[in-house]
Amino acid sequence: MNIIPINASLKYDVMIESGLLARSGELIRKVVKKGRAAVITDSTVDALYAETVMASLADAGCDPMKYVFPAGEASKNIMTLSGILEHLAEHRLTRADFIVALGGGVTGDMAGFAASCYLRGIPFVQLPTTFLAAVDSSVGGKTAVDLHAGKNLCGAFHQPSLVLCDTKTLDTLIPEIFADGAAEALKAGILRDESLFAKMEQGSYKADIDSVIGRCVEIKAQLVEEDERDTGARQLLNLGHTMGHAAEKISDFSLTHGHAVAMGMAAITRAAEKLGVCEPCYERVCAALTANDLPTRCPYSAEELANAALSDKKRSGGRINLVLPKKIGECFLYPVDVTEVERIFALGLEE
Ligand code: NAD
Ligand code: GLY
Repeated sequence: MNIIPINASLKYDVMIESGLLARSGELIRKVVKKGRAAVITDSTVDALYAETVMASLADAGCDPMKYVFPAGEASKNIMTLSGILEHLAEHRLTRADFIVALGGGVTGDMAGFAASCYLRGIPFVQLPTTFLAAVDSSVGGKTAVDLHAGKNLCGAFHQPSLVLCDTKTLDTLIPEIFADGAAEALKAGILRDESLFAKMEQGSYKADIDSVIGRCVEIKAQLVEEDERDTGARQLLNLGHTMGHAAEKISDFSLTHGHAVAMGMAAITRAAEKLGVCEPCYERVCAALTANDLPTRCPYSAEELANAALSDKKRSGGRINLVLPKKIGECFLYPVDVTEVERIFALGLEE
């Protein structure tokens, strides 16, 4: 098993191995030593994996209960959160109990946020079942729901007590959802590791998915440990996200997160080249995205995207930190006045 320790304000392990869900009860019990488990999952994952997890938790003496919400980003809102919190209260969960987030990034973000605010905070465990959740969202303690005004606008920092990544679950992902994870894994490569990027661009990494996930988690862990509250280095993880979040919002979330981030990464790389701050790598980024079944062109105008982006939480006073690549394997924060964002987006979108 690949085990990656995360040294955040709460220290925990990310365990990566095929077949972990069947052992989830026993592994969770070693870390969360008492209490009942409230499993939160979506309708798709419920049908595939909840039975295995519920049985394992019951065998380990965790007396599990379960709350299921409709799959999809449209559920990541205050109404679903309210349903989860009422469920916890109806079952009289106490601070001695804990939440198990079984699913992708939507489940992890929302169940994690419920854990952060129910009774002012109870422990939770992440069981990521998408490639995206495995490489990114299950680690680092960012939890949230979306508001009408934008993504992740209501949330908290709340670290999980354990992350169990059963790589066997990735076998049931449809290709589009698998590709979303590839976008975040390519992001990790562009940020910090040219060899990870090279492995991903060849598209031959699927047989070695455990090590790709492990490397992405290590890269994320370094940034989270350096800047847990996201005031500096951690913002690098937003590569492609300023435009990506805006595109998701304009599309009314018909664009998935990873696809939107892919478009944003391509555009910001092109803009960085045109600004003269980046080695020529736009063509290589686009080829790697295409090889991973991801889009490279954003269908919206720079004006629409800038308007949507600037109501996003990343706006801070009159300045915004964009993330620009310098080369594959190295990126930097590029603070700009909000009035500059549309021009920089336009540079990235022009032919
Ligand atoms: P998701 O959770 O909606 O999962 C995508 C789809 O895959 C859903 O329909 C789900 O039911 C289905 N699914 C999940 N596991 C499956 C499996 N093993 N087999 C078959 N189908 C399965 O979306 P996602 O792409 O996992 O995550 C996107 C979310 O993560 C966004 O809301 C994004 O904002 C968030 N995110 C958070 C962070 C963070 O640091 N907290 C980082 C990146 C993204
Ligand atoms: N996914 C961005 C972060 O965790 O900071």
